[in-house]
Amino acid sequence: MCGIVGYIGKQQAGPVLLDGLKKLEYRGYDSAGIAVYDEFAKKTEIVKAKGRLSALVEKTDGGKSLKGTCGIGHTRWATHGEPSELNAHPHFSDDGKVVAVHNGIIENYAELKQKLLNKGYEFYSQTDTEIATKLICYYYEKYGNDPVTAMERFILRTRGSYAIAVMFYDFPREIYVARKDSPMIIGVSDGEAFLASDVPAILKYTRNVYYIGDREIARLTDGGVTFYNVDREVIQKELVEIKWDAEAAEKGGYEHFMMKEICEQPKVVKDTINCAVKDGKVDFSEIGVTDEQLKAFKQVYIIGCGSAYHVGMVALYVMEKLARVPTRVELASEFRYRSPLIDENTLVVVISQSGETADSLAALREAKKLGATTLAIVNVVGSSIARDADFVFYTKAGPEISVATTKAYSTQLIACYLLAIKMARVNGSIDETRENELIAELTTIPDKISELLKDEREIQQFANVVAAKSNVFFVGRGEDYAVCMEGSLKLKEISYIHSEAYAAGELKHGTISLIEEGTLVIGVLTQDELYEKTISNMVETKSRGALIMGVTVKGRENVESTADITVYVPKTDPLFTASLAVVPLQLLAYYVSAYKGYDVDKPRNLAKSVTVE
Ligand code: AGP
Repeated sequence: MCGIVGYIGKQQAGPVLLDGLKKLEYRGYDSAGIAVYDEFAKKTEIVKAKGRLSALVEKTDGGKSLKGTCGIGHTRWATHGEPSELNAHPHFSDDGKVVAVHNGIIENYAELKQKLLNKGYEFYSQTDTEIATKLICYYYEKYGNDPVTAMERFILRTRGSYAIAVMFYDFPREIYVARKDSPMIIGVSDGEAFLASDVPAILKYTRNVYYIGDREIARLTDGGVTFYNVDREVIQKELVEIKWDAEAAEKGGYEHFMMKEICEQPKVVKDTINCAVKDGKVDFSEIGVTDEQLKAFKQVYIIGCGSAYHVGMVALYVMEKLARVPTRVELASEFRYRSPLIDENTLVVVISQSGETADSLAALREAKKLGATTLAIVNVVGSSIARDADFVFYTKAGPEISVATTKAYSTQLIACYLLAIKMARVNGSIDETRENELIAELTTIPDKISELLKDEREIQQFANVVAAKSNVFFVGRGEDYAVCMEGSLKLKEISYIHSEAYAAGELKHGTISLIEEGTLVIGVLTQDELYEKTISNMVETKSRGALIMGVTVKGRENVESTADITVYVPKTDPLFTASLAVVPLQLLAYYVSAYKGYDVDKPRNLAKSVTVE
């Protein structure tokens, strides 16, 4: 996610802004910039730099080269437009009178851009933020040069998520902010006002903060803060004292980034759905691949490593059930060396959170060499895999700090569901009614994940039991088998307990010999038509002394005659249950690792992105 800071007071703003941005570096970014209003020169100076914050620090002599005591700053995590100095924030109106920084996603940016183009506006960047800035400028000039009205009209006219901070030339010692869904806090101290995306950026200066609500406006001056609702009525807000220490603040009060990211899943899944669903239909216009192209593919390969490969395993079942297109899933490290039978009629989907995994990048290049059309599903804008692919679906997970992926995995699943629905629609294997049903159900997934996150006590308690195990088996069939793969990897990589994911029907072909008194078997049973068969497989292990955990859908209470502990997930279309069943397995792995006292976010021997073979 991007980072926003702002300051008005008695200090020179430049160094304060850079200091705040440093505290937000953990959020991940690819460029940065600051804007400071110089009261004497009567102008707002803007300086930006691509890459690390140190480049901006050097460019501005630690912020001292910009004169003035009022300014805003930003670290950018690219969502629209490549990482570059041009796309870096702050953005500004053509006359330089309106300057803004923004964190979030303006979903209707294309229609707003067209509106402004029709009014004669021009654009220098690829960002939705420049559009937002010029829209605010448009309303500022249209409604009597009143900043609060301009912010109100912006709120009423935009769809999406935003935390936006704006400086107006005609109001030099004021900063205006508005937010919806993206985080923002406002701090106050004697004769100073601060704004930031997150607590760490201002903790050094004040612990007294206001939390601005969705669709609210705030006006910051060195004398304090005034809040307005969307009707421009002044509203009162409670001043809150922050009790966190700096480290806890970076994790939003969570003990580890992994838990923070598990809990971000509802929002980022919703953002990822919203970026490719318009008016209840899958809309790939931003991705660029056409219906005709999708219809022409005779086979689909899905390639990835680790958890990205496990997403592909779920997608295999969904793609073939819905789109009726022959689909294969391959480990990138295997695909790249086995001379696969692909050609121009093949769509190769490469899934990668980082977009830099060496094996996945090499597999992508091999696929292109063999004539395939390539679609990358990645989380990092402008990453190597994104740049090399013919088409890119950017997931909206935001920076994922913990080595063990959770929210990126979940957003990749969404991307695959949408691809399968789109291909099924263009192939005619589902009609509009079924598409509408699937999209409607998909939009309930974020709330269903939230529901799962509300009560994790049983999993937390059971983790203490799991922590004592040295071998764990995850068993399932169909999509459940694919979920078992991800659950097993999560447990292995952060708790260092050996585990295996097994197709439940395979147990009797050898592995069941390993089952003995107390062996833990975790059965995932969300697929209606396979439920009884998987139960039978679990009973076979129970009769040999296994301890059983079941993950199934609400309403399947009869599993409790077999399972020693059961976790229920909300009902949904069987095609989407992976998005829910994975959550208790993420939580279980997390609590086992935390119970064992391991470094949950940085497990031994692992890197967040494997950029070597
Ligand atoms: C998953 O928790 C691991 N961190 C690892 O398996 C990861 O999924 C794999 O290395 C692929 O990374 P990528 O998605 O960045 O390509």
